[in-house]
Order: sequence, then C-alpha cells, then structure tokens
Amino acid sequence: MKRTLDRVLEALNAHPDPDRSWLVGSPWFEPPNELRRAMQSAASVSSFDYPPPQGIAELRGAVAELHRRDGLALEPENVLITHGAKSGLLAVFGCLLQPGDEILHPAPCYPAYPAAVTALGGTPVAVPHEDGRSLFEPVALEAHITSRTRALVLSSPANPTGATLTGDQARALVELCREHGLRLVCDEAYEAFRFAPDTDRLPAHWDPDLETVVQVRSFSKTYALCGWRIGYVAADPALIRRLTAWQTALLNPPNSIAQQALISAPAVPPSFIQEAGHRVRNRLDELVAVLADAGLGTELPQGGFYVWADVRSRLAATGHTDTAAWCADLARRHGIGLWPGEDFLAPGWVRASAVACTEADWEPALDRLGTELRSFMNGRNSR
Ligand SMILES: Cc1ncc(COP(=O)(O)O)c(C=O)c1O
Repeated sequence: MKRTLDRVLEALNAHPDPDRSWLVGSPWFEPPNELRRAMQSAASVSSFDYPPPQGIAELRGAVAELHRRDGLALEPENVLITHGAKSGLLAVFGCLLQPGDEILHPAPCYPAYPAAVTALGGTPVAVPHEDGRSLFEPVALEAHITSRTRALVLSSPANPTGATLTGDQARALVELCREHGLRLVCDEAYEAFRFAPDTDRLPAHWDPDLETVVQVRSFSKTYALCGWRIGYVAADPALIRRLTAWQTALLNPPNSIAQQALISAPAVPPSFIQEAGHRVRNRLDELVAVLADAGLGTELPQGGFYVWADVRSRLAATGHTDTAAWCADLARRHGIGLWPGEDFLAPGWVRASAVACTEADWEPALDRLGTELRSFMNGRNSR
C-alpha cells in the first residue's frame, strides 16, 4: 500500500534531530496494573495449543460484562475475539462483500477502510464532507446508496477528525441502514475517549439485537495495549459464526496469553479510563492551542487522539500545492513529522497525534512544534 506518510518518514530519517512525537496513535500512558499482572500469570498458565476459534470463552464473557455496564445487552455468543480492531474490520468486510459490492465510508476516514475493501475485491465509496470534519449526514449518504451497497463503516470518535456521533445521529444512521437493508459497521476503537455531550448513546443502543449494527472494538487504545493485538467484533450470532469461520480459515485465533490476561479487564477500575480520558483531553487542548497559534485551522476534537488541522490556506504561502509536499518539506527542513491528509482522503489537512509523545518530552516537544511551524511558514513567506 502506498502512503504519502512514507515521504514524510523518509525526510524525517534524513534529519539530524527528527521529532516523531506527533505521528502515531499509540498511547504514552501506562497500561493498568491489573492487566500487566494478569499477563505475567497468563504466561505461566496459558495452554500452548491454538485457542478456541471464537476466542477464549471467559474473555468473551468479560467483554459481554463490559458492554452490560454500558447498558448494552450482550452474550458471549455475540463476540469474536480478533487480532485487534483492524483484523476485525477485515473479517467483517470479508464476510459482507462479494466482488464488486460497495461499502460507504466518510471522507476523511481511517485509511484501513478503503484499503481493506479494495483488497477484498469490493468498491469503497467515499462520502465526502465539505467542512472536512463531520461524519455522515443521512441525506448526503442516501444519495450514494446503490443496489450494490452492503454496509456503511465509520469510526466514532473518528480517526482522524475526532467527530463523534450524538445519540440522535446514531439513531438516524441505524434507521437509514435498516431501511436500506445495510449493515452499520461501527469502529469504536476510541469509544473510551468521547469528550462531547450527547454522545453516550451508541448506534448499538438503538439496535439491541445487533441485527443492523456491527461493533468493532479494540483493547489497543482504551488500555494502552496496542502491542497485544487484541480486539473484538460484537454482532448477531449468525454473523459471528461466519466471521469465526473466516478468521479461522485465514488467520487463526489471536494469541492465547494476551487473551487470557484480558479476562481481567472488568477488574480495571473505571477511574483508570476516566483518568486516561482526562489526560488525553488536556493534551488535545494544549496541542490545539499551539497549532492554532502557529496559524493552522484547528478545533478541539469531540473525541479520540488527534488534532485535525486545516492548512489549505497556508499551502500557497509556503510555496506548496499539496499537503504531502508541505509535510515532507516540514520534516526535511525542521525535523517535525505531521501526517498528511492525503492518506485520509483529505488533501489540504494534516493530522497531529496528541498521545505518542512521552511524558518527559511533552512540554519541550510542544515548544519546538510551535517554534518550528512558525519558522517554516515565515521562512517561506519572506523569500
Ligand atoms: C479508527 C481506528 N480503528 C482501528 C484501529 C486499529 O486498532 P487495533 O490496534 O485494535 O488494530 C485504529 C488504530 O489507529 C484506528 O484509528
């Protein structure tokens, strides 16, 4: 897969003092002690055999318990444990699509959606948003539905924009999908990081039997466990059986030690997630202020890990016509890495992650970001 980010990484690698703090979405905060300890004991008790195809039963039970705490009735038979949310998405698309079928997604969006749909022989259909920030509007969406459309996929909170569905929007999307016989694939990797009011009711609250909604979730972001590679899909049992067969045929189940350890997830106190959300939000606030001060068009995101900045009006001033070149030049000359919008289907925008920088580096990295961005833009202006 070709990414415009690779141009930025190449330029960063050639800089004597590169700063990669703003690129990835892997949290800097420590995972919960309950899960670190559980991993240690899981390493000595786990079986060496393949885990059960659908995932360890106790972990599926733990997932069901976590959902019930959020008012979502779920049984272990509704759950498939996957190799992170990404492979959950792949399995869902793999089971919903026949060659030539279409999946709608917002633009901007997480790059894995169009990449996975294309790799599976389907056709990704982008539903663009003029303001570059929102998720779907039902009216705009309906115009893109054809007889080949099988599903809509979106992340809420969204990567890269942070846009988060309100309860009313969630309900409208469920109704629209129901009316057209489509699945609503809800990528909820960032569900623990919702900062806007009225976002408590998820699409699944309007579809308790999961006849329409397919939830794809991850332990990566919530518990800072990106490296454990565990996520899951929650869906109706018939779809879960198909997804299980797909995953078994192509990937086999995820590793047993991490699954075993995550059975302790319900023992993590809710204060862990509240605290993590609070810290992420504070960082987003500070990052927005620095980027805005440097002249980028930003707003505080409604959720997630990223600041999504509009640089369209700044490109010409720095002698560029696209954000891929703008970001590569910023990396080459100033050692700052930002992710170009082209990879998210939104040229003219850039993404800055608030979660990758270590605690010790945060303040100096923010200072440097502001200084270098101003110098980059002023330097070109004065030529
Ligand atoms: C919207 C979204 N979905 C899914 C993922 C992947 O999550 P996982 O680590 O569980 O595969 C990411 C990772 O950045 C993401 O941003």
